Amino acid sequence: MMHSPLRLHSTDATGDMVIHLIATKGDIARIALPEALAAKLKEKVGKDELVYVIPSENGTTVVVKAKLEEETSYRNQAYRALGAKLCKLLNTDGATAATLLNTGVLNKDYVLQLCEGMALANYQFLTYRTGDKAKPNSLKELMVSDPSIAQDDLAEVTHLVAATCIARDLVNEPPATLTATELGKRVMALGTQNRFEVKVMGRKRIAELGMGGLLGVNKGSVEEPAFIVMDYRPDNAINSSPIVLVGKGVTYDTGGYDIKHGGNMRGMKCDMAGAAAVAGAISAVAANRLPVHVVGLVPATDNRIDGKATVADDVLLMMSGATVEVQNTDAEGRLVLADALHYAKQYAPELVIDLATLTGAAARITAHHGIGMSADKAPQKELLMKSGEEVYERMMEFPLWREFHDAIKSDVADIRNMGGAAGGNITAATFLHYFTDYPWIHLDIAGPSMMETESDYRLKGATGVGVRLLYRFMKNYSID
Ligand code: BES
Ligand code: MN
Ligand code: ZN
Repeated sequence: MMHSPLRLHSTDATGDMVIHLIATKGDIARIALPEALAAKLKEKVGKDELVYVIPSENGTTVVVKAKLEEETSYRNQAYRALGAKLCKLLNTDGATAATLLNTGVLNKDYVLQLCEGMALANYQFLTYRTGDKAKPNSLKELMVSDPSIAQDDLAEVTHLVAATCIARDLVNEPPATLTATELGKRVMALGTQNRFEVKVMGRKRIAELGMGGLLGVNKGSVEEPAFIVMDYRPDNAINSSPIVLVGKGVTYDTGGYDIKHGGNMRGMKCDMAGAAAVAGAISAVAANRLPVHVVGLVPATDNRIDGKATVADDVLLMMSGATVEVQNTDAEGRLVLADALHYAKQYAPELVIDLATLTGAAARITAHHGIGMSADKAPQKELLMKSGEEVYERMMEFPLWREFHDAIKSDVADIRNMGGAAGGNITAATFLHYFTDYPWIHLDIAGPSMMETESDYRLKGATGVGVRLLYRFMKNYSID
């Protein structure tokens, strides 16, 4: 499924296309490229990008690239960006393999970030391309010659990038193919591949459980809903109750009868990016055998219209027993998530993190640069935020001020699914909060889930946001 993966190997030999890493001097990263490649790079980038080509003692040409910031997270990111640039350059050049040579001057972490940036930038979604446009990248292999980097370090990066690309594939897939049922099948395959358990419930079981939110959104669809449960439970898990990840799995959001117009529907295949992040993150955690018990929950359906579709003024009976007055059929994410958040209670979870392309309001605040976050009773929030800085999937906290609860009061039911004109991101989080009673962190990824223009290793289309964040969090948590 994944396209153009870059295989990473450790080596002590050097191949043809050798890239010398010459550490950092002051705030500048230095790498040395073969002469011809360096000339091409100089041709391609603008003067403002700070590229100098100077002769070096390696018989190659030293390219001084990327002004590096003092702050660690920016510095890490500069190496990933540099990796992305290198990857694109090598592909333009038709190179099939390259060797990164570090004689110990550059910190191991920076080298791994460079590799990660290269591998993430080598992604392509070619399923629906034909002819010339279906041409895969030439670059297939990256050798890393560095005494401090072991094959295991590179395997970890390879697994993590592969999992991120799995999430990208799921989001990029058109809605006609990626139905809720198909999403269930693909997650099932990921479970077999990476050794975690997957159970997929269909309409009948969903109805027995009384998931009125998921059924209400699904009512106008010709496709069956699905409720997907993933369980990765290693024998050496350090947590006795699981960390539960919940991902919004709206395979397509037309808005329902409150239909999206003026071009706002375009791109709404991204509305299962939360689900993709959860499936990708658990795949990465399982592939790298982290000692953490993690459960994943995905309520999946498309949001469409027909003669039976839910309309504004309908009242839904949720799995929790609460009633919800639908006031806007386009506020469907919170309806499907509410049932999943209630379902999570049976695990007595250590922590629940939900990821959802939930509101345009959050996207207008963070743009594609960050994630909107709200939290309750979760001491793990600091570690998650630190992990976000490390992988450059940063978070911005939105408060759960109690005044916002008034915004979702209903005249006929317990609550309603929309609030006032302002603070839509907070009203949505407040709605979800109503269905939780455990340590909880909500992540609104509406901003960073898709790119309209490419930026470093985030190419046009799906980004796979959340996978690297959650993996890093689980890893930090497992060694904390
Ligand atoms: N899926 C959308 C949110 C979204 C917007 C995701 C832009 C990605 C990019 C969500 O279901 C939605 O439609 N939210 C509404 C809520 C409103 C009707 C209360 C919104 O944000 O406008
Ligand atoms: Mn919507
Ligand atoms: Zn939506």
